[in-house]
Amino acid sequence: MDFREKVAVVTGASSGIGRATALTLAHAGATVVATARREALLRQVTESCREYAKDSDYRVGDIGEKDFAEGLIAQTLEQFGRIDILVNNAAMPMHRPIYNISAHDAEDVMRTNFLSCLWTSFAAIPHMLLQGDAGKGSGYIVNVSSFAAIVPPTHESVYAASKGAMSSFTRGLWNDLAGSGIHCVLVIPGPIDTEIWDKVDDQNAYRGKLFPAQLVADEIVSAIEQRRCEVTVPRRNPQLAAARLLSVLLPSVVRKGVAKMNPVTATMRDDARERARAGLGLGE
Ligand SMILES: NC(=O)c1ccc[n+]([C@@H]2O[C@H](COP(=O)([O-])OP(=O)(O)OC[C@H]3O[C@@H](n4cnc5c(N)ncnc54)[C@H](OP(=O)(O)O)[C@@H]3O)[C@@H](O)[C@H]2O)c1
Repeated sequence: MDFREKVAVVTGASSGIGRATALTLAHAGATVVATARREALLRQVTESCREYAKDSDYRVGDIGEKDFAEGLIAQTLEQFGRIDILVNNAAMPMHRPIYNISAHDAEDVMRTNFLSCLWTSFAAIPHMLLQGDAGKGSGYIVNVSSFAAIVPPTHESVYAASKGAMSSFTRGLWNDLAGSGIHCVLVIPGPIDTEIWDKVDDQNAYRGKLFPAQLVADEIVSAIEQRRCEVTVPRRNPQLAAARLLSVLLPSVVRKGVAKMNPVTATMRDDARERARAGLGLGE
């Protein structure tokens, strides 16, 4: 596939998977619009993208804000006249037992991880419908979800919910956009070596292998090229395959397994009870 005429928006491009994806798309020739909140990092990514795709640019802002998410698409269209690839990748982690998450915290996660992808997609689809040969529609929406949406670990209920919503939305888009010329890709990363693991405020118990972010970026580009609908990264991984199968066949075994790996302890419950007695809500 020739990416040289393509314009790609990549959210969460300042680090990790988003950064690797922005650079890989630019290397393939696409003009990249990179977005995130940390400007210094975005500037570096964009400078590297420009070595391959000279018109690449960046936008700084909070993707969990509807105006910014919609403005990102509007400004990209204003600047380049088209948007061919939209990679919804930005996300915040939330690794805490439910007792320690407030409704406000949960809403932040849903806005950043799920609603952002809804807002950018709603803004981009009308334009994608008019692109392509004789205005018959063309574009790619790539949503980076998580394996946590398939097997939610303990302490991850809200993060998993945000990714579950994203996965279902993407699968729904496949159905509704069939025949439109717009192709959707659902990306389901397993454990990937990025800074997201350092951002959790409650220590994560996972001690297994972490795979390089470049693996996900390469799978994203090849899924676009091959018009694949869903890709789990790493592919054909025995642990992920076993967890997926067991979660369907023996969900109670999986539930016990994740609870053992990272327990929600009696102390956590007792603390929450104390706070409830004091009239406090979850996460207060
Ligand atoms: N790493 C893993 O093991 C793993 C596994 C499954 C799924 N994933 C998913 O992969 C995607 C990329 O994550 P990553 O692992 O590459 O983590 P990361 O390095 O922490 O990247 C997250 C990106 O999202 C941006 N971001 C976060 N909140 C934002 C906000 N409110 N507004 C704008 N940008 C925001 C961050 O940039 P700023 O801080 O500069 O805004 C950063 O660029 C996420 O959707 C994540 O859920 C990762």
